[in-house]
Amino acid sequence: MSEPEYLTNTRNGYDAIAESSAEMFRSEFDGAPLDRAMLAGFAETVRRDHPDPRAVDVGSGHGVVTSFLAAQGLAVSGIDLSAGMVEYASRTYPDLDFAVGEMGRLPVPDAGVAAVVAWYSLIHVPAAERPAVVAEFRRVLRPGGYLLLAFQVGTDTRHLDEAFGRDIALDFHRLDPDDVASLLEVCGFEVFARLVRLPEPGSATAPVPQAFLIGRTPVPAPSTEPPPATARS
Ligand SMILES: C[S@@+](CC[C@H](N)C(=O)[O-])C[C@H]1O[C@@H](n2cnc3c(N)ncnc32)[C@H](O)[C@@H]1O
Repeated sequence: MSEPEYLTNTRNGYDAIAESSAEMFRSEFDGAPLDRAMLAGFAETVRRDHPDPRAVDVGSGHGVVTSFLAAQGLAVSGIDLSAGMVEYASRTYPDLDFAVGEMGRLPVPDAGVAAVVAWYSLIHVPAAERPAVVAEFRRVLRPGGYLLLAFQVGTDTRHLDEAFGRDIALDFHRLDPDDVASLLEVCGFEVFARLVRLPEPGSATAPVPQAFLIGRTPVPAPSTEPPPATARS
């Protein structure tokens, strides 16, 4: 069965710009202190609650965020649709694991990780497909597991047919934080935290506010059933 066109376009687009876009992504990250604070607080929260802080960075790109999360103590691996991005990340961070994969079908068992990060990657998923992708994030998270999403705020879709001198067909869906919070709740998360900040003055890519949402999966309540009767009682 052939894959949806948006996945083909996203893969081809990032394959085309994997090398040439690396410096820009790096400097966007370096120029955004609040974003790094959100990631650091997220990692500390995951480690506090989960002695085995296994995590997956979905849409890991050049590996900048994966590497940051690893430095914060998460046992994180990266998954990305683009083989070019995975190749770049593996070469740049040889101590970390990166693999080609699709966020709608994660190569992770049910309840296999304590944390999922989708840092500016859900932005490439059309609205109709988003609930299934968030449900997939929910599937792989343990009880009390955490999901961190980063995205540009808005209601429009920005289309790029050229970048770094290459022909591409990339859609960037800006999202409304209230809509994303509702989607998290529909998919079985509670909204644990949210941050919306204005664009950084020097940002090359995003002249709009940026949003960061953390969802948490429920922890089953302890049973209130009395213990089973013993033979002597
Ligand atoms: C804007 S880049 C962000 C990269 C990285 N998270 C960062 O912030 O530096 C989006 C990344 O998500 C990946 N991506 C987009 N759709 C994906 C999907 N359905 N499954 C896996 N990766 C995807 C792209 O290949 C690309 O590397």
